[in-house]
Amino acid sequence: MLPGRKCNFNAGPAVLPEEVLLEAQADLVNYKGKGLSVMEMSHRSKEFQAIFDDAVQRAKRLMNLGDDYEVLFLQGGASTQFLMLPMNLCHEDQEANYIDTGSWSVAAIKEPPKIGKKVHVAATSKEAKYSFIPREFTLSPNPAYLHITTNNTIDGNEFHFIPEAGNVPLIADMSSNFLSKPMDFHKFSLIYAGAQKNIGPAGTTFVAIRKDLREKFNKGLPAMLDYNNHIDKDYMFNTPCCWAIYMVGLVLKWIEDKGGLEWVAKNNQAKAKLIYDVLDASKLFRGTVVPADRSLMNIPFRLSTEELEAKFISEASAAGMIGLKGHKSVGGCRASLYNYLPMEAAERLARFMVDFEKANA
Ligand SMILES: Cc1ncc(COP(=O)(O)O)c(C=O)c1O
Repeated sequence: MLPGRKCNFNAGPAVLPEEVLLEAQADLVNYKGKGLSVMEMSHRSKEFQAIFDDAVQRAKRLMNLGDDYEVLFLQGGASTQFLMLPMNLCHEDQEANYIDTGSWSVAAIKEPPKIGKKVHVAATSKEAKYSFIPREFTLSPNPAYLHITTNNTIDGNEFHFIPEAGNVPLIADMSSNFLSKPMDFHKFSLIYAGAQKNIGPAGTTFVAIRKDLREKFNKGLPAMLDYNNHIDKDYMFNTPCCWAIYMVGLVLKWIEDKGGLEWVAKNNQAKAKLIYDVLDASKLFRGTVVPADRSLMNIPFRLSTEELEAKFISEASAAGMIGLKGHKSVGGCRASLYNYLPMEAAERLARFMVDFEKANA
């Protein structure tokens, strides 16, 4: 880690590879000798088009997606996708189906009724405080799609399998575990993910759409909320978040140079194991999710009292480990160990937890 940099356990926007930050710094004022910054370029210039195409191709390569998928970089965050999805894909006589695995699923479920679409919750682990991922689900009579949240950032659970939805389009909000491991991305008809956790800075949202879905989309929608419009207008209907897309391209290149998603996954498993091993051996710290469904990205944990939790967070911060406070809706502590958190940071946190337990036994 570069001198002066903190161990950053924030849930997003989150830590980025230092090599990428340095490359962006070098390009900031004068991009590759072109005499201007990416922030100052026309999005219609050939320089920016090359940056855009490169990011799309790298994402497709990493995901093993071919010409059967369209890739968009939209704005408005994953939260806009919560609305855009039912607006495009749910018809009047259909129900939007969701597996509810936590706060972000709930946020997605709230949107369809606001535009007059019916919702069906096919399964939920709400009663168990989202401590597991349901294996069984029941679809509604005429499902438009089945939506899952592959990793619940706040509740700390993760799908380590892909549900079988048959002919029903499977949709995923992958915001908080996107490109954290190899997956059979082809099983999904539509994937979306805000960039700011695992592939770049805030400001752009990755969306992949299987082409056969396009004919199902509703027509006559507001232009900015119409997937087909974005695709038909060469993926750049309006001015995209150019800088964020440039950064995503650098991050994806970094992943490819390191060895792809297999390399990323191995690293992520090793980092998460360091923390889960401490939790499992501890009498002071307590995990909140059953082992089979624990997230490798966001690890929520509790201590015996809120006072002790506050002490832990404050002492960790003083020792250079920031972002360990749990989401305000659930409290407690949370360590987010996204792709670019250095191994050294996870090792330091694991050691700190062991020492804290000894000192506060
Ligand atoms: C799983 C998940 N979905 C959606 C969102 C909302 O994303 P955005 O802030 O990009 O709208 C978040 C944000 O943390 C998230 O973790």
